[in-house]
Amino acid sequence: MALARDTRVGVIGAGAMGGGIAQVAASYGHDVVLHDTQQESVDRALAAIEKNLARAVEKKKITGEAAKETRGRITAGDLSALAGCGLVIEAIVEDLDTKRKLFSSLEDLAGTDAVLATNTSSLSVTAIASACSKPGRVIGIHFFNPPVVLPLVEIIPGLATDPAIVAEAQQLIEAWGKTTVVASDTPGFIVNRIARPFYGEALRIYEEGIADMVTIDWAMREAGGFRMGPFELMDFIGNDVNLAATKSVYEATFNDSRFRPTLTQQRLVDAGFLGRKSGRGYYDYSPGATAPEPTRDPDLAQLIFRRILSMLINQAADALYMRIASAHDIDKAMTLGVNYPKGLLAWADELGLAETVKWLRALQEFYGEERYRPSPLLRTMADDGFTFFTR
Ligand code: NAI
Repeated sequence: MALARDTRVGVIGAGAMGGGIAQVAASYGHDVVLHDTQQESVDRALAAIEKNLARAVEKKKITGEAAKETRGRITAGDLSALAGCGLVIEAIVEDLDTKRKLFSSLEDLAGTDAVLATNTSSLSVTAIASACSKPGRVIGIHFFNPPVVLPLVEIIPGLATDPAIVAEAQQLIEAWGKTTVVASDTPGFIVNRIARPFYGEALRIYEEGIADMVTIDWAMREAGGFRMGPFELMDFIGNDVNLAATKSVYEATFNDSRFRPTLTQQRLVDAGFLGRKSGRGYYDYSPGATAPEPTRDPDLAQLIFRRILSMLINQAADALYMRIASAHDIDKAMTLGVNYPKGLLAWADELGLAETVKWLRALQEFYGEERYRPSPLLRTMADDGFTFFTR
């Protein structure tokens, strides 16, 4: 059965992600069933959807009629209401055992041809799919938060996923108005893997006393053109969420030192300094708190920015080398998923590949750490004078 506008869509888990995904699907015209084990989650999600739709009407993005129709297409129900769904998107708690149990029970509930998708951000799609007797129809469809606003969706085939399902899922999600990229089933997929040094290298620079947090943030905004610096962004995301993502990629890569979490992150989480949501993180958000001032030194800013950027480019090049995604998808993912001012591979081309290799080699020599090794692809392309994109 091909996925189309008349496909009934099931969304399981009505938390931060599930509610938004249900709204996106219903806006396109699907009848949507939203299920959660907690009634409060469903109530909260439906209230948020109504508020979102009302705001879209106010801003004249959609008509009042369209908002009413979209809301009318979403019903809440128990698991049995998923019968007849051609696509089920799971967005429940990030726990492998719980997800595997759910997928195994979905096999009998949803139609025999239904596509079963997971919105997991850090677990293996293959490991979830292996709980099913037909793993060929299981796929990762990874939205970014908030799903109604952010345009990027990573499509992740598991080892056993049927290629026809990949194409179908991609087509449908594009029809929902999203931009899709395809990633192989590897830790962090594209965005959550490649973005790690934005935080990790900033934390190293801070821990070594090269610069304080506010100066590092300032440098990345001023010299790099990033919308937010690493520490402001971690406070925005939540330090607990960011640490969990870091640990998950580190452990899933069998402790690759490039992804190692830092004590600074751990201590902040231990202290309950979770960021904006707890009123204190790397910065103090309490009423009347004064914002610290950066050291506005352009040379220091360049040093910070070029070190972090070199590490990011190295990750992007390595993701290409490891065939996690295509060069175009890697650059698309980082600009649309995390708002980077430029695609990292295009940025490497602009600076000259040899320039990034030079930075990495200098860091590797100074620290003597494997963490700074240049990706073999970056190194050989630089030696041969190649670029990632033809100009
Ligand atoms: P959340 O904690 O806000 O919501 C999860 C919901 O699932 C809760 O309402 C909970 O009651 C429900 N639930 C738990 N077990 C269930 C079960 N067995 N059956 C039905 N409902 C169940 O979580 P959030 O943030 O929405 O994340 C959901 C999934 O999306 C996770 O896999 C997460 O990794 C992924 N994700 C999260 C992003 C984020 O920024 N929050 C971004 C992209 C993906």
